[in-house]
Amino acid sequence: MKSWRGLLAFACALLVFADQARAAEPPRTLRETGFFDASSPKLPFSPQYPLWSDGADKQRFIALPPGTAIDASNPDAWDFPRGTRLWKTFTHGGRPVETRLIERQADGAWQFAAYVWDAEGRSAELAPPRGTILVVPSAPGGRYVVPGRGDCLACHGGAPSPVLGFAALQLAPELRALVERGWLRGLPHELLATTPRIAAASSVERAALGTLHGNCAHCHHAGPGRVPLRLTLQQRVADPEVSAAEVLRSMVGARSRYQPDPQADARIVVPGDAAASVLLRRMRSRDPRVQMPPLGTEHADEQALALLAHWISQDLSRHKEP
Ligand code: HEC
Ligand code: HEC
Repeated sequence: MKSWRGLLAFACALLVFADQARAAEPPRTLRETGFFDASSPKLPFSPQYPLWSDGADKQRFIALPPGTAIDASNPDAWDFPRGTRLWKTFTHGGRPVETRLIERQADGAWQFAAYVWDAEGRSAELAPPRGTILVVPSAPGGRYVVPGRGDCLACHGGAPSPVLGFAALQLAPELRALVERGWLRGLPHELLATTPRIAAASSVERAALGTLHGNCAHCHHAGPGRVPLRLTLQQRVADPEVSAAEVLRSMVGARSRYQPDPQADARIVVPGDAAASVLLRRMRSRDPRVQMPPLGTEHADEQALALLAHWISQDLSRHKEP
């Protein structure tokens, strides 16, 4: 009798699990995600420190369920209402190639999916769970990699919030408009009184730290879920001075655990010497074992490299040890 009951409970659990797994399968087409739905307002947004994606142009949108708002009381990890959807479309040569979706489901879990557009740019279908490689003549090298769902989690899954670009620092100039629109609740008042920004010694330094925040901080941060290294590249609006100092301390003159040459004692950032800085070597490399970020790009971001090299060789040279 007892074992029957146990078996029944097990079977029920399996059914519940199977049901959840079914519910977790994303819609088959982009249309079914509500992307083309004119009745629910979709707000376009642009993070000020965007992710480098091999030169693709990107358009981003967010839609909230009617009558809901984002809880911004933790200003560095906004809490999004269930039913929130965010899309990001990648275009090359003016043609949409891929649209990514993040959706917060009724049970609070997040769903990630990628949709591949047809050649006419009219509709898009769900990509295989493991991703796919497309021939796109206008993309660099003529090919385009659609990441798998596990790859989405590598970047979006360990960050303070799984939504990376719709966040206080990234949207700093638009915070007031978002509050007035009724999209944000609980944002600490001081962030409306003064537009938050990265604490930095110069505008070059601010741009350099912003680039690292936008491209690296989802893995290299100081909270739970981070890559277990001392290196943090995350800027926070709640304590800009503290977080900027943490970032500088963790890289400027700091010993790298990764040592390209066992004879040398490599530092993550060597003030005044961009070529010797491990940070730049790893950003420039496209050897899959070395490159940073480790996924999502096949070509280095030359503009970001030039900015960081300038910051390290010019701005930081005054930190040089005597
Ligand atoms: C290499 C890291 C990385 C990978 C891999 C990645 N993303 Fe992102 N994604 C980001 C970052 C950083 C942003 C915010 C900055 C931007 O959009 O330029 C972002 C933004 C987004 C946005 C806009 C909402 C937001 O969070 O700001 C969506 C939607 C999205 N990603 C979906 C996906 C999906 C789906 C996958 C997997 C198919 C994926 N991403 C893979 C790093 C990544
Ligand atoms: C998807 C997560 C992820 C992203 C995004 C990412 N990294 Fe990393 N990074 C790692 C992991 C994991 C390691 C440790 C293993 C290794 O050294 O390859 C690492 C190691 C490093 C190291 C070596 C530090 C040490 O002490 O050994 C540097 C420097 C670094 N990353 C810089 C960057 C920079 C700069 C960016 C953004 C341009 C970036 N990373 C983006 C995951 C990431």
